[in-house]
Amino acid sequence: MSGKAVVLVTRKLPDAVELRLARDYDARFNVADTVYSSDEIVRLSEGAEVIIPCHTEKLTAEVIGRLPDTVRAICSFSVGVDHIDLDAARQRGILVTNTPEVLNDATAEISMLLMLGAARRAYEGERQIRTDTWADWGAVAQLGSQITGKRLGIIGMGRVGQIMARRARGFDMEIHYYNRSRLSPELEAGAIYHDSLEQLLPQSDVLSLHCPATPESHHLLNLNRIALLPDGAIVVNTARGAVVDDDALISALRSGKLSAAGLDVFNNEPNIDPRYRELKNTFLLPHIGSATRETRDAMGFRALDNVDAIIAGDEPRDRLV
Ligand code: DGY
Repeated sequence: MSGKAVVLVTRKLPDAVELRLARDYDARFNVADTVYSSDEIVRLSEGAEVIIPCHTEKLTAEVIGRLPDTVRAICSFSVGVDHIDLDAARQRGILVTNTPEVLNDATAEISMLLMLGAARRAYEGERQIRTDTWADWGAVAQLGSQITGKRLGIIGMGRVGQIMARRARGFDMEIHYYNRSRLSPELEAGAIYHDSLEQLLPQSDVLSLHCPATPESHHLLNLNRIALLPDGAIVVNTARGAVVDDDALISALRSGKLSAAGLDVFNNEPNIDPRYRELKNTFLLPHIGSATRETRDAMGFRALDNVDAIIAGDEPRDRLV
């Protein structure tokens, strides 16, 4: 017995983060980096005081109900916590923390990449090069949409949404947004606020989703709302797949109502709706919004700061429950 608190780490984390964990705790690492089943999580939590999961571990009410009494906290290596049943944790007196702020820039970068990739048909062009099917340059070949000067609609003007707006201003885009509450003029920085989605959508040549997945935002982008977007609009999603109704989005991409979509997040990852793969007008990434070395280290350290506070009996900085 080391006398150190036992911490279950459900996925392989960056080396520097694991080194700190090994130094300060009796850490149970996942060397093979497999995704644990619910039964494995419950079994491996035996004697642990803290679990550090990623969004790949679904900590449902049923799983939380079966966790050993030793578990005092779930310190997620993620900003999103839709994989954790917060009410169930609250009922069991288990603290939950996340890692806000540190992934804002990385996620906004991927939103920009998706917007540009979708607008300029990057997938098709890339594929031509890789499959040696590029016939030649053509004056009317591979024409995409120019985003410079266009209107960008942002749903969820939190930290990532605000950075996306700032970056998009570099492309002279006009920023529109919908948020639960209006930002101060300082934070708005000229962005135009709409107090309903129905008002925002017709103003969005590009629509970028930055809201958390909650019961309220489930399938927020549905058939009726897509119909309100300008014809040929582009949809970008770095939030969560659950915010989008796949049937509606796929049908709008097929019909041409939407010209393209750039998606980093999906329903039922990694087993995404296969119809997305068949669409040439999609630019698809495998949930890499926060995947930079800098950000993943920062996420790990932020999660560990929360663990340290909890073990020391202090209030963790990022407590949600
Ligand atoms: C997050 O932090 O929520 C990212 O989506 C990775 O899980």
